[in-house]
Amino acid sequence: NGKYTVTLIPGDGIGPEISESVKDIYAAANVPIEWEEVSVTPVLKGGKTVIPDAAINSVKKNTVALKGPLATPIGKGHVSLNLTLRRTFKLFANVRPCVSIKGFKTPYDNVNTVLIRENTEGEYSGIEHEIVDGVVQSIKLITWDASERVARYAFHYAQASGRKRVTAVHKANIMKMSDGMFLSACRQVSKDFPGIAYDEDLLDRVCLQIVQNPQPYSNRVMVMPNLYGDILSDMCAGLIGGLGLTPSGNIGRDASIFEAVHGSAPDIAGMGLANPTALLLSSLMMLRHMNLNEHAAKIEEAALSTIAEGKMITGDLGGKASTMEYTNAIINKLTKA
Ligand code: IPM
Ligand code: MN
Repeated sequence: NGKYTVTLIPGDGIGPEISESVKDIYAAANVPIEWEEVSVTPVLKGGKTVIPDAAINSVKKNTVALKGPLATPIGKGHVSLNLTLRRTFKLFANVRPCVSIKGFKTPYDNVNTVLIRENTEGEYSGIEHEIVDGVVQSIKLITWDASERVARYAFHYAQASGRKRVTAVHKANIMKMSDGMFLSACRQVSKDFPGIAYDEDLLDRVCLQIVQNPQPYSNRVMVMPNLYGDILSDMCAGLIGGLGLTPSGNIGRDASIFEAVHGSAPDIAGMGLANPTALLLSSLMMLRHMNLNEHAAKIEEAALSTIAEGKMITGDLGGKASTMEYTNAIINKLTKA
């Protein structure tokens, strides 16, 4: 039928409402996508709790998925579902663009950077032990292969998006071996991209500088180990108006999962107040990944101009609109255009 099938994981908390909003907008824009909705809520199988086969098979078959937020259990013996998905599908690069929205007022109007986070290892390896009572070890695992792979992805991304510089963000002054090897991998890959400038910068220094003046970080890609990317991406989100506005894509060789960076917001779940923008912008990264660029551009224009006008925006952005009112404002623009 000339349509692409995409897996949709609505997720927990506000996930179903914001997914509904994206589906409505896509229908209005005639995007040639059919959603295959699956749940990733773990099920018991052979004495173990695992992601349902239906979900795994759907992502494998479709190779692209859009995912809402999943609640992260805290405490021993619980593994984050988000991390399980990243690991299961070997989603090695987490791409997090952070771009000011024109017309939406924040203390900064010139943020335009892309963070690429190593997505499978580092402090997220999940290797922890209590050595003796009162002494715990959490292993930060860094491999050359994963470092090289994410570095290469970052340079390719810079090339494809017309960004002129790749900066490796690190703490190799302290983590001499692990971050040191990460940098060596980046440096080696940089030699294959003579058209793109390469430099290295300390994470703490980047934090300090970027909140003082984001301008020098425009037009570049920053690549870094997992935990640094987790923290720096939230900080950069703060520069442009918060997690309600920041998309992300988890990229793998065989599958990619696009998701908002924010959580499931159980406090406002089901109340029709959630901001679907981050999930919508993530879905536009997905459309571009699928080469549906015109559809992406059209929806992006409708959403960003709705935010810029400021009349129909959700509470997190300082407005009074419900999820539905905001969604309908975008749809009105799409169907009038
Ligand atoms: C993110 C989230 C996740 C992370 C959590 C939910 C496991 O904060 O995508 O940034 O820490 O990576
Ligand atoms: Mn995070």
